[in-house]
Amino acid sequence: MKKDFIAVIDYSSKELTKILDLADDMKKHPKKYAKSLQGQTLGMIFTKNSTRTRVSFQTGIFQLGGQGLFFSANDLQLSRGETIYDTAKVLSRYLDGIMIRTFKHSDVTELAQHASIPVINGLTDFNHPCQAMADMMTIREKFKKLKGLKLTYVGDGNNVTLSLMNACIRFGLDFCSISPKSHTLASELIAAGEKDAKSAKVKLTFTDNIAEGMKGSDIIYGDTFTSMGQEAESAKRLQALGPYKVTPEVMAMANKKAVYMHCLPAHRGEEVANEVIDGKQSIIFDQAENRLHAQKAIMYTLMKKRK
Ligand code: CP
Ligand code: NVA
Repeated sequence: MKKDFIAVIDYSSKELTKILDLADDMKKHPKKYAKSLQGQTLGMIFTKNSTRTRVSFQTGIFQLGGQGLFFSANDLQLSRGETIYDTAKVLSRYLDGIMIRTFKHSDVTELAQHASIPVINGLTDFNHPCQAMADMMTIREKFKKLKGLKLTYVGDGNNVTLSLMNACIRFGLDFCSISPKSHTLASELIAAGEKDAKSAKVKLTFTDNIAEGMKGSDIIYGDTFTSMGQEAESAKRLQALGPYKVTPEVMAMANKKAVYMHCLPAHRGEEVANEVIDGKQSIIFDQAENRLHAQKAIMYTLMKKRK
């Protein structure tokens, strides 16, 4: 296993499956793991807002017998110009792990490079790997399998899209992204994905045609049209992405037993209609719950001290 959890694609299918199996067991038998990270402290650095990630990590480390320490953007000397290098070196002397949510992905990789303790990526502008792990756990719970399913992401090609694509590649799901040409994933990310998908025998599709993309889909996935840090562009984004709202008519183009997922927070009426996100096919709260179990499994995997 690697020291850090920064991207899904850094791990093999076998390693990721082991984490999901552990997450399932932790969900079923939480007491069995109550002391597994006893006495350990997870530092949690957030320079962006969070509900799920913050609460599930802090609760998760507590449920494993440890404690979480929360730092918002202004708390650390980092915000006054102390270097990531010095921060990494110092925090490694106190803590057993660091979870960080921030803007620049390179800040996370730099932190991980200089820290001697595990660093977990809780979202950057580039990706959101913990989310994708909880999503795969949720899909496996609902469908009792992952291989061969088709996951279709609808909307802005962003951090969540990238981690989902990579998780699909590792777990053997076909992945489709439906978005206007102006808001699809960057071409170099698509090219890298296609290379990985080929060796994994997974099909990737990028289209701006809703009916074409929805066909044969088992999972429909949504996210906000305006990610954190993009607020100034929100009117422009809404205009470009508005036609890609998931409505009941759009859902009807997918498989009959398709489910609707969303990483949350949702903007009801923008990327998704109320009837869909609050409807029978929606599994958003099971999905949100699984952030807790999947992240406990990630922390356990990286932080458990082996004798
Ligand atoms: N999905 C997710 O990461 O939610 P938060 O921004 O609330 O942490
Ligand atoms: N793409 C969204 C995800 C929020 C969990 C954002 O980065 O704001």
